[in-house]
Amino acid sequence: MKGLILSGGKGTRLRPLTYTSAKQLVPVANKPVLFYGIEALVAAGIREIGIVVGDTRAEIEAAVGNGSRFGASVTYIQQDAPRGLAHAVLISEEFLRGSKFVMYLGDNLLQRGITSLVEEYVRIGVNCEILLTKVPNPSSFGVAELDSEGKVVCLVEKPKEPKSDLALVGVYLFDDSVFDAVKAIRPSARGELEITDAIQWLVDNRRSVQAHLVSGWWKDTGKAEDMLEANRTVLDAVEPSGSPEIEGRSSIEGKVFFEGSPGDVVLINSVIRGPVIIGPGTRIEESFVGPYTAIAAGCRLSGIEIENSIVWEGSSLSDIPLRISDSLIGRGVTIRRRPDMKPKAHRFLVGDNSEIGIGE
Ligand code: DAU
Repeated sequence: MKGLILSGGKGTRLRPLTYTSAKQLVPVANKPVLFYGIEALVAAGIREIGIVVGDTRAEIEAAVGNGSRFGASVTYIQQDAPRGLAHAVLISEEFLRGSKFVMYLGDNLLQRGITSLVEEYVRIGVNCEILLTKVPNPSSFGVAELDSEGKVVCLVEKPKEPKSDLALVGVYLFDDSVFDAVKAIRPSARGELEITDAIQWLVDNRRSVQAHLVSGWWKDTGKAEDMLEANRTVLDAVEPSGSPEIEGRSSIEGKVFFEGSPGDVVLINSVIRGPVIIGPGTRIEESFVGPYTAIAAGCRLSGIEIENSIVWEGSSLSDIPLRISDSLIGRGVTIRRRPDMKPKAHRFLVGDNSEIGIGE
């Protein structure tokens, strides 16, 4: 069995945190979302992985390398433009042909991994298996209609009037029959070769398509609350680990994961209340880091309180009077109190499409 991870698409998205970077590298609990996909494939025994890349190839390659650190061998497959998920399969035929494969969308995260699904697919011997989950907003996804016996009848990409609330999750299992399908279909109204149309072709042409309902799924929708939710879900499962250097009076409560070698994280007169993850080289002084917070590597926190938030690498937060909550803070950001500043005012240097909430 092989794996195909889709990590193409444009490098620009209309939100500040991924303006210049690949959305598949957005960190959840201090780890790029793409890495969860690679690890899920490897855990399911899949070692040969193709990654479809677009504009952001250099960044993805720099992060993933040749795959050896995951115990996998990675082949990069360049897509000239985001021409659709089925187009990504089409251009990967040479890499995939002759092997069943899992297609995994690089911005999706499945809480329970895919090991049992891969086993099921091999055991039941169908041409294709799709994953579905109930969602409140089916119009934002591919939607499946099943008959009374649970057989797939119809799949529609982002329907205005959905026939069910069952969305296609971004993990699909295929054999060689999918290549006939992706060659037979034509681009959709939005100009993409849709994987939903390819699967519909399989259904219409009497190939066997099995649907499997899952829970615990998250997709990068670009919304802050979704990222915070994914972060909470992953942090709920972390095991306490690592040992910080502790100076002064500090306490660690609940499940806290200190990354790096012992002493890489420094705590001075601070309270850390898990679930929390803290990256190496981060220093926390006179602060409270509360539940469901991920602080990445190389950050400086001093005289602050923070909870239910994500802070990316190399940011510095100091002497902020109100607790920071429900926040996403990007790379290399500085937020600090400046009592000496004249005029006495808030002073912002903030990028496009940012959002700042001032509590008082
Ligand atoms: O996440 C589940 C949804 O993913 C499904 O419900 C939909 O049926 C399916 O079409 C897809 O919908 P999106 O429109 O949300 O897909 P998106 O454009 O976000 O692309 C998903 C991933 O695939 C993302 O990591 C970028 C990558 N991609 C996308 C396209 C269109 C490529 O590598 N190449 C492409 O041509």
